[in-house]
Amino acid sequence: MALIEWKDRMSVGVEALDQDHRRLIDLLNQMHALVRGEACDSTPIDIVRDLIRYTEYHFECEERLMRLGRYPAYEEHVSIHRDIRRRMISFEQKFLEDPAEVHLLPLYDFLADWLMRHILREDQKYRPYLTRDGEAMPNDAA
Ligand SMILES: [Fe+2]
Ligand SMILES: [Fe+2]
Repeated sequence: MALIEWKDRMSVGVEALDQDHRRLIDLLNQMHALVRGEACDSTPIDIVRDLIRYTEYHFECEERLMRLGRYPAYEEHVSIHRDIRRRMISFEQKFLEDPAEVHLLPLYDFLADWLMRHILREDQKYRPYLTRDGEAMPNDAA
């Protein structure tokens, strides 16, 4: 999979969450640079850790806003988040046990594919509950 570019159609209508998604794309693109063997300030494990920590932080923000917006499919969305979190953590553990056995390309492909589908499909579904008339609600950045 190629580098990921932010597109307006990825917007969920809440600036704080759009910023999180941009940051996740940025981290994935750094991983892509490492996979291609380009110079990068971070090591593979740093990137993996940054991605996991930032994903956890983002999921918490998103879940809090979904609760505030009384999003009816909240439980379903949280279980999707839980699944990805579990897979990322198991990857991190494998990486720590034996870094030589871990290949970044399959992880990159998996995460890039997952993240894009999640932002474009699942995250779009909560949009009407977290925004009003296309405007972010006052609790946007809460
Ligand atoms: Fe989500
Ligand atoms: Fe998200």
